Amino acid sequence: MSLRSRLAGAALLLASVSGCGEHPQSSILPKSDFAESIHSLYVLVFWITLVILILVWGAMAYILVRFRARPDAPRPRQIRGHLGMELAWTALPAVIVIAIAIPTINTVFRTQRAAGPDILMIDVIGHQFWWEFRYPDGVVTANDLHLPVGVPVTLRMRSADVIHSFWVPVLGGKRDLNPQVAEPAAVGRPPQTPPNSDQGPGQAGKFNYLHFTVREAGVYRGQCAEFCGQSHSLMGVHVVADSPFEFAAWKRAWRGPSVDSLAADSAAIAGAANPQAAQARIAAAAGGQASDTAVVQDSAVVAASGAIGGGGAARIELGRRTFHSAACVACHTIQGTNAQGQVGPNLTLFGQRQSVAGWLENNPDNLVKWITAPQSVKPAAKMPGVSVAGGGFPATNLSTEQVRAVAEYLYSLGRSAPEGAR
Ligand code: CUA
Repeated sequence: MSLRSRLAGAALLLASVSGCGEHPQSSILPKSDFAESIHSLYVLVFWITLVILILVWGAMAYILVRFRARPDAPRPRQIRGHLGMELAWTALPAVIVIAIAIPTINTVFRTQRAAGPDILMIDVIGHQFWWEFRYPDGVVTANDLHLPVGVPVTLRMRSADVIHSFWVPVLGGKRDLNPQVAEPAAVGRPPQTPPNSDQGPGQAGKFNYLHFTVREAGVYRGQCAEFCGQSHSLMGVHVVADSPFEFAAWKRAWRGPSVDSLAADSAAIAGAANPQAAQARIAAAAGGQASDTAVVQDSAVVAASGAIGGGGAARIELGRRTFHSAACVACHTIQGTNAQGQVGPNLTLFGQRQSVAGWLENNPDNLVKWITAPQSVKPAAKMPGVSVAGGGFPATNLSTEQVRAVAEYLYSLGRSAPEGAR
């Protein structure tokens, strides 16, 4: 092997171990006070161990050279027991352990406390295989956790099924989300039902908490860190850290009225009051015929607000009607519409989400894949597909055109809102 190829190989190896490129889940790029505390411990331990490494290796190298065997050397002096050395290698490690333990224990206690009474408390609920976030003012979202920068936050965690673990490395350590089991029945008393997050303070002992303040705006990736089933590795989470102003704007957008940008009120009422007319318009839209005057009117509304996704206003409108007349509404909520299902993720402002199903890029093509065959995207997902049952629900039997339309509709949510929404 020539010198040049050896150097190239060494450079390649160095590049591969240094992890060049993006590192979205780095635990050494802290973005919260909690992560900074952990990081400063990490740095402290790093320097202590580096000094130990240099001292030990230095001593070893010196001894190897100084006392190496020589052909004509006399037999070395033999010693048995050395009080000074015995004391040194007992006392020194004890001093090192104490030097590490004091700041560590200090950090553990400091990070276990909420910052104060004026914290923002958000319920985090783990599901197979998605994250639910409930804000104290009723805002509910999934997979994207919106947080205001500079505001102390407490995440109150539990699971709806098995144990999950919330882990966004740049924000701090992992925290388990535990299922809340029923208390065993005490003699003479009825058994307690399993509590849910709506029964908040009384069940405080059942939750795990994570307290931190985000320092810097950005989008931070995280991951479920406790094996929870077939799609554990796909249970991704994004934290969207905004300025308090943008955070408030996001909440305003969530509440609408521009949430469902296409739910032109009159059209929605007409559709609900006259299902046959709605069906006729769906058929017309599916056939690509915009001859129906109502569709033309809806299209005009959509055009005025700026349609997104390249699917065209009629298709988005078809998607809206399909979504709201199909089984989707049994499980999903879209704020400001009659979709109020509580079983699956809340889809309000879906177009602003970072991902489809927690790990795929959010675009209409990936939404089509997800709606068509959820288990091909996320094995064991509890959602029915077009031709497969899922989560105890029958197949949706949506046509290819309807799936495309629903995808375009969901992708449009929160995208064409005139103001406030991002
Ligand atoms: Cu949830 Cu692993």
